[in-house]
Amino acid sequence: MKELLTSIAKERIYSSRKVAILTGAGISAESGIPTFRDKDGLWTKISPEEMANFDAFYKNTQIVSEWYQKRREIIEHTLPNAGHFALRELEHLFPSFHIITQNIDGLHQKAGSEKVIELHGNIMRNYCIDCKKYYELDEFESIYEHTENHIPKCNCGGLIRPDVVWFGEQLPRKALEKAFQTAEEADLFFTIGTSAYVRPAADLPIIALQNGAYVIEINPSKTGLTNFTHLHLQGKSGEILPKLLEEISLNLKQ
Ligand code: APR
Repeated sequence: MKELLTSIAKERIYSSRKVAILTGAGISAESGIPTFRDKDGLWTKISPEEMANFDAFYKNTQIVSEWYQKRREIIEHTLPNAGHFALRELEHLFPSFHIITQNIDGLHQKAGSEKVIELHGNIMRNYCIDCKKYYELDEFESIYEHTENHIPKCNCGGLIRPDVVWFGEQLPRKALEKAFQTAEEADLFFTIGTSAYVRPAADLPIIALQNGAYVIEINPSKTGLTNFTHLHLQGKSGEILPKLLEEISLNLKQ
């Protein structure tokens, strides 16, 4: 099998102590979850303006709630793929290892990764827009199923929304602060399965670069970030990450 890593990359990886991983929808593609901007992506079928913003939710609560519930039902039955599991194993090979994900599918946690920073929230969590009460999934789904028009309401009367970051909304402050700190302190940074369009997530690899990290991109295509990275591993994360895990674990044990 052709080795993936250049000698410089090996040197940098094997001497790294603080690793940060930024993931996007691409890492969940091989689990069957559509990405957003690929040729068959979500945003090619529906515009984010129609679904993924507060005004749309407030004006068309039933349509938006049903759209998210449909995605939830798909994700509930979706399993992590080899890429997620490889990252879980890599976590144990370095003294400090954090995953910063833009994904709301919870697949990193399902694969057993422990240090996951969810920048854009999690579709399985829901909360009331008035009293901010959080609803566990089963409680939310029983409310959702028992409303005749799928407009889930809190006991206080407020609408219940998914705990995801919509366009135009602030990212969760603690998660964002932790993500920036992790990127600043990293000596090795992977950007995996993201088109690097959406900020502030797309700023993180640049921050890592500016602080001296070695930056590796894993993506079948080139992105706006590719020319700034030290190494672009072209291919699917579900194929590349297990090979990377094999090469790294072999060498770190020696
Ligand atoms: N392995 C790795 N990368 C892949 C794979 C794969 N198997 N399949 C596709 N990709 C890459 C695509 O080439 C693309 O660069 O994943 C990327 C997916 O890009 P987007 O669909 O834009 O998803 P993402 O970058 O996560 O979007 C960021 O935008 O709409 C918002 O909130 C949403 O979190 C999302 C954010």
